Amino acid sequence: MNTTLKEGINWVGYIDWTVRDFHGYKTESGSTYNAYLVQDEKTAVIDAVKAPYVDKYLERIKALVPLDKISYVVCNHAEPDHSGGLPGIMAACSQAELVCNAKCKTALEKHYNTTGWKWHIVADGDSISLGKRTLVFIDTPMVHWPESMFTYLPEEKLLFSMDAFGQHYASAFRFDDEEPLDVILQEAKTYYANIVMLYGRPIAQTMERAAELQIEMIAPSHGVIWRSHIKEVFEAYQKWVVCKPEPKVVVLYGSMWGATEEMARTILEGAQECDVEARLYDVDSTHMTRIVTDILDCAAVAVGSSTLNNTILPSVAGVMCYIRGLRPTQKKGFAFGSYGWSKAGGANEVGRMMEEMKIEIIQEPIRAQYKSTPEQLKVCRDAGRELGRIAESYK
Ligand code: FEO
Repeated sequence: MNTTLKEGINWVGYIDWTVRDFHGYKTESGSTYNAYLVQDEKTAVIDAVKAPYVDKYLERIKALVPLDKISYVVCNHAEPDHSGGLPGIMAACSQAELVCNAKCKTALEKHYNTTGWKWHIVADGDSISLGKRTLVFIDTPMVHWPESMFTYLPEEKLLFSMDAFGQHYASAFRFDDEEPLDVILQEAKTYYANIVMLYGRPIAQTMERAAELQIEMIAPSHGVIWRSHIKEVFEAYQKWVVCKPEPKVVVLYGSMWGATEEMARTILEGAQECDVEARLYDVDSTHMTRIVTDILDCAAVAVGSSTLNNTILPSVAGVMCYIRGLRPTQKKGFAFGSYGWSKAGGANEVGRMMEEMKIEIIQEPIRAQYKSTPEQLKVCRDAGRELGRIAESYK
């Protein structure tokens, strides 16, 4: 495995082949926790790994340099998938200073026993000389947490971008040109949609700053390192930060006895009368990780729920809660669903949630008692066709 980014700069992270849950994100492709060693007149480690893997991380570092030669351990982000190994490395590296910004120090002190750590607090734009190379620190608040920052090596045109541009993707390869581009871009999209979609504005601001840097390589904290397809991932991020609508319709639903499913399938058929991509998801058979990835760039969405106990199905509510938290923008749509005797009903609750999510509602919820009549199915088909027309306008 080639772990060399540049001469004297190596990947020293951990490949987590089997992780399948990342606080609710279904990581079908595993993940990596990337950390990097920069050897110069002084030596620095950029980031750590999840706590259970600290021994493997220290082994990788020790294979390259004695631990007492490490001068700096940089923490770009306090989330435990990257900081969990810090107590281990700070205990093992007697000479090392922990380099981070003030907000990060506060977060680390709340997460760990930091007694005895030597701190080197940096502010936006500060730098540390390692000899021939310089570490420059760039605050990137809310990409992904308030304390997040990038570390940049101007002499190497190398950006350590922490979560930004990452992918939950386990691979024996470390670089973007060693994996199929469509696969890693899809993984980057899934990562963006599920982890940082709600921070589109700060990410856009961060990208404006990053665009001012000379960059030959982007080394994120998860997944492959970008060296051949920086342009492609930058262009993709420029679309994702604004949830740019593509000509795509998403219909998702939960159904008890098939009536809401019949409505969903009819809505989809209406959308398919237009020349657009159309996707149908049953929330009971598709994980929300995948659904929200399609929501990121769809133009139009219909959400359906049967009525249970006078309200929305818990399975639909869970997915809607997840989507609401991630705050997709620029979507139009409507709610639908069946009911029995309840005047409230799942469809109305879905519609209320869609309004809260600032989805532009194009019509009142479509409701059918017990089972749709042919007339009600025609309403579903017509509404689906309207979603298709909306999506088609983005071609
Ligand atoms: Fe990969 Fe926000 O931590």
